[in-house]
Amino acid sequence: MSDYIIAIDQGTTSTRAIVFDHSGSIVSTGQLEHKQIFPKAGWVEHDPKEIWDNTREVIGQALSKANITRHNVKAVGITNQRETAVVWDKNTGEAVYNAIVWQDTRTQEIVDRFSADGGAERFKDIVGLPLSTYFSGTKIVWILENVEGAREKAEAGDLLFGTTDSWVTWNLTGGVDGGVHITDVTNASRTLFMDLETLQWRDDILEVFGVPKSMLPEIKSSSEVYGTVHTSSLLREVPVAGILGDQQAATFGQAAFDAGEAKNTYGTGNFLIFNTGTEIVKSQNGLLTTLGYKLGDDAPRYALEGSIAVTGSLVQWLRDNLGIISSAPEIEELAKTVDDNGGAYFVPAFSGLFAPYWRSDARGALVGLTRYVNKGHIARAALEATAFQTKEVLDAVNADSGVPLTELKVDGGMIANNLLMQFQADILDVPVVRPVVAETTALGAAYAAGLAVGYWADLDELRANWQEDSRWEPALDSAERDRLYRNWKKAVTKTLDWVD
Ligand code: G3P
Repeated sequence: MSDYIIAIDQGTTSTRAIVFDHSGSIVSTGQLEHKQIFPKAGWVEHDPKEIWDNTREVIGQALSKANITRHNVKAVGITNQRETAVVWDKNTGEAVYNAIVWQDTRTQEIVDRFSADGGAERFKDIVGLPLSTYFSGTKIVWILENVEGAREKAEAGDLLFGTTDSWVTWNLTGGVDGGVHITDVTNASRTLFMDLETLQWRDDILEVFGVPKSMLPEIKSSSEVYGTVHTSSLLREVPVAGILGDQQAATFGQAAFDAGEAKNTYGTGNFLIFNTGTEIVKSQNGLLTTLGYKLGDDAPRYALEGSIAVTGSLVQWLRDNLGIISSAPEIEELAKTVDDNGGAYFVPAFSGLFAPYWRSDARGALVGLTRYVNKGHIARAALEATAFQTKEVLDAVNADSGVPLTELKVDGGMIANNLLMQFQADILDVPVVRPVVAETTALGAAYAAGLAVGYWADLDELRANWQEDSRWEPALDSAERDRLYRNWKKAVTKTLDWVD
């Protein structure tokens, strides 16, 4: 029996365990969705216990579907929704509050408070990020200020913070029984607290936010043996050897290892990551500076990121809140019932607008409506919104780098939608390329873990695994492209200054 790597992908809507073989192909998958909890407008939570229970279960599913045991698994890699914050008691292993999800905007008042002295970009040169509700740091502050007894316990050294990589790793390696409390550089770079150059927590920033350093995980590379799985697990004694935030994992899984390479992931949101190599590039165009990956003791690789909060989750919203489709893939059929958007533009600023605007005061708008518009046009406008938002971040990447991308590698759930992919190529005016293994997020985490234990020898071996599956060529005339994009930009202006 051969050997494999297992990747755990703790995402926004589900947790998956995927077994990969040496060619980077999927052998089996276990998957469970978890509840999305919306206690108030703008609030989004997950139950950390449900996430951990699901993690254990999907590991079992994946092993049994592949008909293998821990003896065939060389290492575990972990990837995760990034800025979602969990705070738990290290003595009981219980979370003191639900996980506050990256999409949650409740911390706007905290952002405003800390922006009052020095503006939203006061730490951007150091940490690569503007102050925003998006990042995990503001969510920790909210828990410390709003959960009874949390601050006292944190100051006594009893509370731990982690994004879901840390939460899963701590539990997987034993929890209260000696679990390791770590994160990797890519996840740490989404907190607002990590110095991009030293890759360490910044004491002065922690002091401003009032966050005790004892809560924070130790920052590790993305690929090294951090510990082994606890004896109570099906994977007991298997090394945990790779962690990458999900967008960085997808970049790694796309084999975009070098400066100038990029990928765009179409998930609940869209995230375009552009590798800048060992250089820390400070964006002049509304992008984030973030860690790309760090393999063991090698130099860190950096990236520019264009984050879009709402793309696939707009399709879910049309399904769950409006009921105009009954499953997400149906949106393509509905959009195909019309030839164009009928004049409608949908700006899904449900969590404000992320890159390149960083306007948390924005709220969603559907504009250009006439009596002519039907649900087919609305479906089409929703898909087009993903493509227009991607054009905005790709334009920013091109402006920052000075060297326009000549094609776009894509992955994620929505790339199965041919109508969207064709429109994406049309609106960008560059080809869009899909790899054979579209599960690049889990693959990237598997690669990071496999490299650490010698399952794969080097990056060249991984590059050789990448294969093109399909390609969409641009086919829209430039006048029409410009007209559509001009209208989109006009629609965006209607969403700003909305919060009262
Ligand atoms: O920054 C948020 C991102 O990491 C979430 O990704 O794929 O779980 O929606 P996803």
